[in-house]
Amino acid sequence: MNISIFGLGYVGAVSLACLARDGHRVIGVDVDDAKLDLIAAGKTPVVEEGMVQLMTDVIASGRVSVTRSVRDAVMLTDLSLICVGTPSAPNGSQDQSAMLALAKDLGTAIRDKKGTHVFAFRSTLVPGTVEDVLRPIIETGSGKKDGLDFHICFQPEFLREGSSIKDYDKPPYTIVGANADAPIALLRQLFGHLPCKLHATSIRGAEMVKYCCNNFHALKITFANETARLCEALSVDPFEVMNLVCQDTQLNISRAYLKPGFAFGGSCLPKDLRATLHLAKTRDVELPMLGSILPSNRQHIDHAIAKVLASGHRKIGMIGLSFKSGTDDLRESPLVLLAEHFVGKGLTLLVYDPEVQLSNLLGANRRYIERHVPHLGQLIRDDLESVIAESELLVVGLGDARVLAALKEHLRPDHTVLDLVNLPLGKDLPGRYEGLCW
Ligand SMILES: NC(=O)c1ccc[n+]([C@@H]2O[C@H](COP(=O)([O-])OP(=O)(O)OC[C@H]3O[C@@H](n4cnc5c(N)ncnc54)[C@H](O)[C@@H]3O)[C@@H](O)[C@H]2O)c1
Repeated sequence: MNISIFGLGYVGAVSLACLARDGHRVIGVDVDDAKLDLIAAGKTPVVEEGMVQLMTDVIASGRVSVTRSVRDAVMLTDLSLICVGTPSAPNGSQDQSAMLALAKDLGTAIRDKKGTHVFAFRSTLVPGTVEDVLRPIIETGSGKKDGLDFHICFQPEFLREGSSIKDYDKPPYTIVGANADAPIALLRQLFGHLPCKLHATSIRGAEMVKYCCNNFHALKITFANETARLCEALSVDPFEVMNLVCQDTQLNISRAYLKPGFAFGGSCLPKDLRATLHLAKTRDVELPMLGSILPSNRQHIDHAIAKVLASGHRKIGMIGLSFKSGTDDLRESPLVLLAEHFVGKGLTLLVYDPEVQLSNLLGANRRYIERHVPHLGQLIRDDLESVIAESELLVVGLGDARVLAALKEHLRPDHTVLDLVNLPLGKDLPGRYEGLCW
């Protein structure tokens, strides 16, 4: 394939070398003459293991050339990989100046091009940039239409400096965000041989995945380091602790707890977090990340409250009250906090939870609910159908088969459902259906 690469920093230079190694003809473009001269001389512009030899080999192969001319590079290739820098601006926003300037040049460059061209953006870009910012610039500059005369797509880069050639050859996956089959097919041709899955998704989704992955990595590092600081203060070996934490591949290093849904609660997580933070305070250990978890969780509950209040409905039915299905434990259930808030706002509330029998509640569980929702006895119903029938808005916090069947049978067109548990309800239901964040 004939490929042009724009931006010959860590990502662009390594991609150029690896693609040429794999037999493609590659034209490198940069605004920095020093980088172009180095590559033309068979030298690497970045310090990376294996790059010195690889650059020597690919220049000798004759498959690599460099230019400052955007037009030449686009005219002579079918695909452009765009890898220019997107650093932080002083206010923390993304500085897209290099990308915006290049997009203008790319538009002008394809103005007279016969045949289609694919632009694959590989730089990290805040979600929405490719479709809302770069596409219009290229369309205006070229007088051509995305999807017709050319294609834009986004393929996040997952290589890490220091091991970039190895990462290029063995990425966790290839993600292509596109609106058409043609760019996906082209990138599959280029990267389909790699030992990983290729996922096609929306352009915005692909842009977001890159941020999400980097944020998750930052979160993991910080979690390990905050744990280590507390361990140090308690004379506990942090390596032993984190090693054992990582041995649990059921709940810890797994997909568990990583699906968007409702806030956490119950009799363990909130209290144990509070105890951890208190312990740290007594040892003068600062744990800002762990300390922000409960406020963030509260934010999620407030988000649900705001959605219900914004709906304008006054008759609310809650399906589920305990902190998770299969238990009658109401302590620190976020659904109880919702119920408390709705009652406080004067909304009419009905509650259904098959596990919660008021007469059976004992001890701390009973005291908790009496403190938060003192008149629960008047609100709770033991038949789900009447809760559905008498409510305008249903907050679904319990997702078992019976709830699903009852909703499918009894929902009316005037109902609104706020689904906190990702029910497989389908789009053809009567009424308005929404999740908490989607
Ligand atoms: N470095 C990494 O490990 C890594 C990993 C994944 C993703 N990324 C992302 O990839 C992008 C590139 O990162 P990098 O570390 O390779 O950047 P870099 O700063 O090393 O290189 C960027 C290059 O773009 C060139 N450039 C600027 N304007 C240009 C233009 N108009 N035309 C052509 N070239 C131009 C610069 O001269 C520079 O050589 C960034 O968005 C970054 O966030 C980087």
